[in-house]
Amino acid sequence: MPLYGVNSTGSRAAAVLSSLALLCFCFAFSCCPSGATAMPPGSRSAVVTVDQSGKGDHTRIQDAIDAAPANDSAGRTVIRIKPGVYRRKIVVDKPYITLTGTSADSTVITWNESWVAVDSPTVSVLASDFVAKRLTFQNTFGDAAAAVAVRVAGDRAAFYGCRFVSFQDTLLDETGRHYYRGCYVQGATDFVFGNGRALFDKCHLHSTSPVGAGGAFTAQQRSSESEDTGYSFVGCKLTGLGAATSILGRPWGPYSRVVFALTYMSSTVRHPGWDDWGDPAKQRTAFYGQYQCYGAGSKTDGRVAWSHDLTQVEAAPFITKAWVDGQQWLR
Ligand SMILES: *[C@@H]1O[C@H](CO)[C@@H](O)[C@H](O)[C@H]1NC(C)=O
Ligand SMILES: *[C@@H]1O[C@H](CO)[C@@H](O)[C@H](O)[C@H]1NC(C)=O
Repeated sequence: MPLYGVNSTGSRAAAVLSSLALLCFCFAFSCCPSGATAMPPGSRSAVVTVDQSGKGDHTRIQDAIDAAPANDSAGRTVIRIKPGVYRRKIVVDKPYITLTGTSADSTVITWNESWVAVDSPTVSVLASDFVAKRLTFQNTFGDAAAAVAVRVAGDRAAFYGCRFVSFQDTLLDETGRHYYRGCYVQGATDFVFGNGRALFDKCHLHSTSPVGAGGAFTAQQRSSESEDTGYSFVGCKLTGLGAATSILGRPWGPYSRVVFALTYMSSTVRHPGWDDWGDPAKQRTAFYGQYQCYGAGSKTDGRVAWSHDLTQVEAAPFITKAWVDGQQWLR
């Protein structure tokens, strides 16, 4: 059966990989290696507002980020964003930035650009200790190519009540430890992807893949056994446009690791659950599992033989905030 976008996605993956490799190289010499950022004094935070009507401290979100102190010890900068549609790309290149909206429906950051360069995503989080609340991040490019809404490449990032909307490659959870709670992610192909270590807590993933097009919820990229990355979905909800539209994931990296626990799966999840992306060797190295999921798409008897129906003991490491060392940095 032709898998949607195997060829184009494969070459896209190679292109992304090579540009990301370059970028990671640069980053190694500039900022934020994981865990190296000093915690600021907890009590100090500055609050600024962004309001397109001119009544706040800034009219553009980027201006508020640019004006924030680069020095970690200055504390956190909370940027309150008034409702509106903000049509600009955003780069978060300083640690301890919080972006908050009033509601995700009313506060939208949007852009229209396919993946042509590392700065193509609508929002790029490059620094550590980022927090976002009640915002919609959108890339309106559509179904013709990969188009990232948010790229998360900083350590210790947390998203609460946010919406991520695109079609192919919506959320690039690329590197670092990340926590998503009560978020909504929409896409069709590989729409949560990258080599991050992430916990999705009570999130809703909605596939817009057409029936027969071979949609995939995830494409996690873990590349070796020594990497501690992987995606864990706990208490989440998976829906789609019809029956049997999408698989749970496919291995962008050979050691791809994804677990769904205590999650509702509608009939949109195809019975095999996972595939090896045309490389049977990855069946031996990828780690895909589910634990106590429910709904018509959750049945494990039709799953590929190399995926796991996890026991409580096997699922335990994945299903608490400890998966992302949250006890150290999540409030
Ligand atoms: C950062 O802030 C601390 C405390 O306010 C100060 O001692 C230090 O010199 C600052 N560093 C830079 C690079 O400005
Ligand atoms: C996005 O941009 C493309 C051209 O790059 C254009 O064809 C398309 O209509 C745009 N979509 C939206 C929703 O603006």
